[in-house]
Amino acid sequence: MAHEIAQAAPHVVGGPVGITRRWFLRLAVLGSLGAIFSQSLGCFISFYYPLRVGTFGGKVLAGKPEDLKVGDAKYVREGKFYLTRTPDGFLALYQKCPHLGCVVPWKPDDPTEDSLAAKGRFNCPCHGSIYDRFGVIKAGPAPRPMDMMAISIENGNLLVDTGKITQRAAYDPSQAFKG
Ligand code: FES
Repeated sequence: MAHEIAQAAPHVVGGPVGITRRWFLRLAVLGSLGAIFSQSLGCFISFYYPLRVGTFGGKVLAGKPEDLKVGDAKYVREGKFYLTRTPDGFLALYQKCPHLGCVVPWKPDDPTEDSLAAKGRFNCPCHGSIYDRFGVIKAGPAPRPMDMMAISIENGNLLVDTGKITQRAAYDPSQAFKG
């Protein structure tokens, strides 16, 4: 009897209410397989799930660099941003006012707030915040410049990542995309 107990003891894990070593190994193998399967599933989904290209939240085409000259501003509706060209490079300015979130229109015939052109500025209709082509606040209650989106270039086209919106405390020329 004592001999049988001595033989049985090594196969039990966790004492009288525990599981046998065989079950422990089975669970360990199943757990490992489950982890591998879920990792593979994650890779599969991220590889095959269609990227949101061309709509807000994804990368949006903004045209060719040569389409804009210094001082120009262009609205890209599907990306909800303005693309401006400054001597420092291109800026993609999010249309949402940093004050309380109204859509800020570009006013091409309003007096300019910068030295890049004779006319044109952003003027928020809600509480009167005014921004120049750099998106810098010139008047009104907005607490900071217009937010920016990341720009890259692919096959000669400017691409704006509308999923990457950055707040900034002040204008920094190094944030402009050189092209
Ligand atoms: S929401 Fe634009 S100034 Fe208030």
